[in-house]
Amino acid sequence: MAVNSNASLTALQVMRDAPVIPVIVLHDVAHAVPMARALVAGGIRMLEVTLRTPQALACMEAIAKEVPGAVVGAGTVRSPADAAAAAKVGARFAVSPGYTRAVGQACREHGLSLLPGVATGSEIMLAQEDGYTELKFFPAMQAGGPAMLKAWSGPFFDVKFCPTGGVTTGNAAEFLSLPNVACVGGSWLVPADALVQGDWARIEALARQASQLPR
Ligand code: 3PG
Repeated sequence: MAVNSNASLTALQVMRDAPVIPVIVLHDVAHAVPMARALVAGGIRMLEVTLRTPQALACMEAIAKEVPGAVVGAGTVRSPADAAAAAKVGARFAVSPGYTRAVGQACREHGLSLLPGVATGSEIMLAQEDGYTELKFFPAMQAGGPAMLKAWSGPFFDVKFCPTGGVTTGNAAEFLSLPNVACVGGSWLVPADALVQGDWARIEALARQASQLPR
């Protein structure tokens, strides 16, 4: 799949590229490029860098400029300003913990494909009204886990989900076996202590393991 060009990506391309989208929290710009290289070496190219630290935007920019195999996305996008800032530094997709029309509109204006976060039927319906059929289920375990996804597969038969929140190596396979799950999201691929220790080999190994999960 030609995801490394500057052409716009669809949400489905973002979700289908690998079984897991890593949810990344970076506090140090120096970690960004070696971490991204390790993930790409392990087979994970879609990288969700969360807007939770003052360094997040600089980290995205460094990855977008210096790691050609990576596709940078912005996580924790909660406002139109977040979307604008992420697009400016080279993010190509966005993930939000919830959904508002303003965030959806801003992502469209800035050419970011968006995975809107949902946790209820009404939120799914609002996102669908605005044309979204690929959604993040957040927080997945806390909001009902695989059983909730099975229940949604009836009325929301045309929606694909990326469950995120409480997904681990222990339960990822169960989520991925569901027909309405295209991929999962999780922070376990980039442990905080591996970043601090510069243990890129560990991150690469975690990525490789994640990229080989069946779905
Ligand atoms: C988050 O918002 O931090 C993500 O949902 C990741 O959750 P996790 O740490 O449970 O994988």
